[in-house]
Amino acid sequence: LKVDLRPSQLLGSATPRDWFASAVADLGALLSDHLHCERKAAENALALVRRYPQHPGLVGALTRLAHEETSHLVQVASVMEQRGIAPRRDTPNHYARQLLALVRPHDPQRLLDSLLVAAFIEARSHERLNLLADGFGETKDVELAGLYRSLGGAEERHARLFLELAAPLVTAADLASRVADLGKREAEIITALPVTSRIH
Ligand SMILES: [Fe+2]
Ligand SMILES: [Fe+2]
Repeated sequence: LKVDLRPSQLLGSATPRDWFASAVADLGALLSDHLHCERKAAENALALVRRYPQHPGLVGALTRLAHEETSHLVQVASVMEQRGIAPRRDTPNHYARQLLALVRPHDPQRLLDSLLVAAFIEARSHERLNLLADGFGETKDVELAGLYRSLGGAEERHARLFLELAAPLVTAADLASRVADLGKREAEIITALPVTSRIH
């Protein structure tokens, strides 16, 4: 039993093609949600640095990640500012909350699950940001198409990074089995959520 570490192989369900139209129905809501996603990605990386500085390679990898996510935050904020779109308050992210509820409470499972849930969120974000890049390409919004293409590529790298940090914690068989469990749950969670103007 070997785990396929390609982020594109993680997801157990594909977002329907018509998702784009609903996502951009309220562009201000979508961009605000995306802004907060980048913020939470940076905060989550730093929270892992706070909790697990002893895990090999984690501090270096996740401080760089937090730095990169913060730079994404800068990019999204600046596009919003240029377009005169005011950032809104964050609203509860039921997708992330339901996934985080699957993290087992004690270590070493807690660290493993935290890293794997982060990998799934990055992999799903990779899929969704690429759909935004495709959609904005079709609607000829070159700026947002370019932004989402570049941010989508970053999410795929981030998914791989989290998987690589998780892999040494357990045997290959245990890793594959936990990835399969979480993948099944992630697909159920994302499929059950209403489609609105947000990333997930
Ligand atoms: Fe990001
Ligand atoms: Fe990311």
